[in-house]
Amino acid sequence: MKKTILISGGLGVLGQGFAKVLIRDGFDVLLLDVKEPEQGREFSGEFFKADITSEADIARLKACLAARGTQVYGLINNASCQPPGFIQEIEDYSPDTFRKVLDVNLVGSFLLAKTVLPFMKEHHAGVIVNIGSIQGVVAPTFEIYEGTKITSPLVYAVAKAGLIHFCKWVAKKYGKWNIRCNAVSPGGLGDSQRGGSAFADIYSSRVPLGRMVMSEEVADVIAFMFSDKARYITGQNILVDGGWTIY
Ligand SMILES: NC(=O)c1ccc[n+]([C@@H]2O[C@H](COP(=O)([O-])OP(=O)(O)OC[C@H]3O[C@@H](n4cnc5c(N)ncnc54)[C@H](O)[C@@H]3O)[C@@H](O)[C@H]2O)c1
Repeated sequence: MKKTILISGGLGVLGQGFAKVLIRDGFDVLLLDVKEPEQGREFSGEFFKADITSEADIARLKACLAARGTQVYGLINNASCQPPGFIQEIEDYSPDTFRKVLDVNLVGSFLLAKTVLPFMKEHHAGVIVNIGSIQGVVAPTFEIYEGTKITSPLVYAVAKAGLIHFCKWVAKKYGKWNIRCNAVSPGGLGDSQRGGSAFADIYSSRVPLGRMVMSEEVADVIAFMFSDKARYITGQNILVDGGWTIY
């Protein structure tokens, strides 16, 4: 029976990188995304339109999985959002923006885990990977954002820290059903900076490996986490950060 892996935010930059390697490795990949695929633009995986914070959409998803005739084997909690006001200073931060980011990262991931865990228990096998971030591990280096429109808000940091701890809890509770749960936490992604930029230079100067990470490099770690080679790894946070968090 073919093994299905769900990717929330599957149409995004990292989501697509993950889909490519997992399809290559023989998995059936279902992309959950609130946005529609861009017209005329090719993508890897099967699209299932869903807002992961909507209980109605999650109920539709559950019915789809039950009827699919595949083994529900994996979940990547990858969706995140940057609603209006995402980069405001905390003094001006809107509680609605704060709640929205927590809702997508944490409530959405909880709803998806709640959906897949019964299927995984049935097959006595499952792999869940939450996409964290260096921002969920260490405090931001605020200086690198000076003079740019980029920053790392408090809500993002606490959402990612929550997703990292989520894995320890699930790993402990569901290990007896051979269900593994880990986080993969990338550093700043360099895909949109391929031509180079002032920000990429400043960011890279703080990284021991001297550059940003590319989506293919995160995807290689994801492929490993879903492979049998990672069968004894659970409850961990794997940092793919070029050494950002070591000092
Ligand atoms: N880009 C980076 O530098 C970086 C670094 C570390 C970690 N991350 C994390 O990696 C993950 C993917 O990042 P990315 O750069 O590919 O982002 P992206 O914006 O390209 O993709 C995110 C996807 O999530 C989808 N999404 C948002 N809200 C949703 C909802 N309610 N329901 C379903 N889908 C929803 C979006 O439509 C989008 O396709 C995120 O969790 C992000 O926080 C990114």
